[in-house]
Amino acid sequence: MRSILFVCLGNICRSPTAEGLMLNHLASAGLADRIRVDSAGIGGWHAGEPPDRRAIAAARKHGVDLTPLRARQVRKTDFSDFDLIVGMDRQNVDDLRRLAPKQSTARIGLWLTEALGRPDEVPDPYYEDDRAFDAVFDLCDRAARAFLEKLRA
Ligand code: 4NP
Repeated sequence: MRSILFVCLGNICRSPTAEGLMLNHLASAGLADRIRVDSAGIGGWHAGEPPDRRAIAAARKHGVDLTPLRARQVRKTDFSDFDLIVGMDRQNVDDLRRLAPKQSTARIGLWLTEALGRPDEVPDPYYEDDRAFDAVFDLCDRAARAFLEKLRA
């Protein structure tokens, strides 16, 4: 596994949180140059925008800086450019499978299943309060730590 793409609906809440966390953990482990990490959205409504300010605030409390990230939409080439593409919820995974071209080589899965072996989703916090953003951060933090352990094993 040399590259992973995190995908959610808008690419401004969950997938940039997962991306920022994974980048931080890889850097701490000295593996930043070994694994390529990116994130994208099923939709393109927020393309070019930084993450949601609530996602930025939740991550900042734990020393993770999401401000350099910019949203983009999933593109066909992602399915050959990345080894693993993970959706935050089941709808994301269904959409990814629908968007995947015939010659897709990427493995597609659910993030918490890939990382933790749990059939759970990272719930969409967009219409929720700040606590939902803290919960997204905590879930993605646990997942990123576990995934890193799997990579090292
Ligand atoms: P995300 O959250 O998929 O975690 O980035 C959302 C962001 C924006 C929208 C929905 C979900 N939206 O409808 O614009």
